[in-house]
Amino acid sequence: MSGEDRLSKLAAFTTERPLLLVGCGRMGGALLKGWIGAGIDPAAVLVVDPATANGGSSAPEGVAAVADLAGLPEGITPRMIVLAIKPQVMDEAMPGLKTFTDRGATVLSIAAGKGLAYFKAAFGAEAPVIRAMPNTPAAIGQAIPAGIANAHVDAATRELAELLLGTVGAFVWLDEEKHMDAVTAVSGSGPAYVFYLTECLASAGAAAGLPPELSHKLALHTVAGAGALLAEGDLAPAELREAVTSPAGTTAAALDVLMSEKGLSVLMRKAVTAATKRSRELSR
Ligand SMILES: NC(=O)c1ccc[n+]([C@@H]2O[C@H](COP(=O)([O-])OP(=O)(O)OC[C@H]3O[C@@H](n4cnc5c(N)ncnc54)[C@H](OP(=O)(O)O)[C@@H]3O)[C@@H](O)[C@H]2O)c1
Repeated sequence: MSGEDRLSKLAAFTTERPLLLVGCGRMGGALLKGWIGAGIDPAAVLVVDPATANGGSSAPEGVAAVADLAGLPEGITPRMIVLAIKPQVMDEAMPGLKTFTDRGATVLSIAAGKGLAYFKAAFGAEAPVIRAMPNTPAAIGQAIPAGIANAHVDAATRELAELLLGTVGAFVWLDEEKHMDAVTAVSGSGPAYVFYLTECLASAGAAAGLPPELSHKLALHTVAGAGALLAEGDLAPAELREAVTSPAGTTAAALDVLMSEKGLSVLMRKAVTAATKRSRELSR
């Protein structure tokens, strides 16, 4: 879709049918930055976040921000409500939002562990709800948000959600909500695994005799550079790996360890299984 087409579709958000962002912290703030960058009219976005009460809102110029729902203009009818608050505060926010879903707003929640059934209980069986899981590279427009919509979300609204989440990365739809736990374990939590891998590589370099600062720099740039090569998408990860592995060379010596029976593959599987299980527990 061309930038112009995207912009004309995003013009569905107007001052009469605004986009309401509830929670403008790390992830809400990243989304808002993406929307404004994509050309959404700032006057068509309203932000609710207690930080505004302390002058701490990260809302960009032109976007009206209020500390709580009571501060919103009376009688507004949002086209969509994006919920970017922590799951722990979700219960208390729900009753105040029902008036908007009753007036036809679609809910797009990015909260971990709050499934479609939770929103059905809060807003009623007919309310259109989309649940999505972004990840931290959203801050630089490099996320891979994944989403699932209930049966009440029409095609135009699905497309709007796709466009909104697409402003922070490459959006994908899921066919089944049950996949959300594994998505959370792979892409939601995944950036932390890569950060930890970088820490491990840096400390292993230091243990091999490098000055720690140099080792940190080498590890960081190696992970970032390898990620950029992967992102080019010309070669699969295994092909890129094989291309740098000469028989009996240094990389092969390291991969013999990493790919051994108790190596990284087994550990990663255990890690993703643990995160999937935890996501399932948190959803209950
Ligand atoms: N960060 C991630 O990597 C990530 C990834 C995937 C999904 N998510 C999901 O995104 C959501 C937000 O996470 P986050 O990391 O952005 O959290 P965050 O930085 O703490 O942002 C949440 C914001 O919501 C505000 N808030 C609290 N209660 C509110 C209310 N009743 N109405 C409006 N705003 C309220 C908070 O203000 P106070 O600080 O004053 O309470 C804070 O500014 C979570 O549900 C999380 O599961 C996050």
